[in-house]
Amino acid sequence: MIRHLLSAGDLDAATATLVLDTAQEMASLADREVKKLPTLRGRTVVNLFYEDSTRTRISFEAAAKRLSADVINFSAKGSSVSKGESLKDTALTLQAMGADAVVIRHSASGAPHRLANWIDGTVVNAGDGTHEHPTQALLDAYTMRSRLGRLSGLNVAIVGDVLHSRVARSNVLLLHTLGAKVTLVAPPTLLPVGVDAWPAETSYHLDSVLPDADVVMMLRVQRERMDQAYFPSAREYSRRYGLDGARMRRLPEHAIVMHPGPMNRGMEITPEVADSPRSTIVEQVANGVSVRMAVLYLLLGGKV
Ligand code: NCD
Repeated sequence: MIRHLLSAGDLDAATATLVLDTAQEMASLADREVKKLPTLRGRTVVNLFYEDSTRTRISFEAAAKRLSADVINFSAKGSSVSKGESLKDTALTLQAMGADAVVIRHSASGAPHRLANWIDGTVVNAGDGTHEHPTQALLDAYTMRSRLGRLSGLNVAIVGDVLHSRVARSNVLLLHTLGAKVTLVAPPTLLPVGVDAWPAETSYHLDSVLPDADVVMMLRVQRERMDQAYFPSAREYSRRYGLDGARMRRLPEHAIVMHPGPMNRGMEITPEVADSPRSTIVEQVANGVSVRMAVLYLLLGGKV
């Protein structure tokens, strides 16, 4: 039985598929007039966000509320964290208040793992530094499966700032488990050291990867994590690694374009692509709620 969701690598194929199937059931709730299940009544979910977030934080909040949990939102700004309180003391405070689950986003890779050692409840990693973002990988897999009907055998290109992307790492792990083939496409400066050991291919040439791709996942260029110049200029980057209309037309007819958001429109993706029918960007957000409902339901219900 799994108590925490810290890494996409914690999920074997059967468990990951169970999450996706459960999410599909949760999604059918969204069409009902009353979008609520009583499943987590009386349980408390704390959203502990030390880093900025729009989609992930709101999505976890909506998910917990649709399962009737009590939700406490904590953001580091405006809390005692700015007075220097440590993660451990914050965790013990939440524990004392009876948190059954803590959803944590933190700029330090490994923070959710530390937290899991300090508290009795369930810990869900909502993004730790440049390390992992397992629920994003699950919602991406869910989106691919619902658009393309399967995951096994899909060719997925993940393009851009792989170096700083927790989304890329979690996707590589999960997609490999579920039988898809991943190619990481980036300039050499934006691929992490040791990427050879990841279960993925690498390429420096976007144009040569596109004709065989079923899915192209564009990553945000994470300037806030860049302490040096990784490419000559934004224009040069877009020219080689950005997805515009002309490049999109080289994709097979059925291929989809994904982006976890937030986007740098005009940098890694043009508005023409982001707003095209191939784009699943808004669907990914909607699917995120169903997937996070499934994760909370399965972990807190002791079903995985
Ligand atoms: C991502 C994140 O925060 O890791 N966004 C998200 O959760 N939807 C990707 C990013 O910030 O570029």
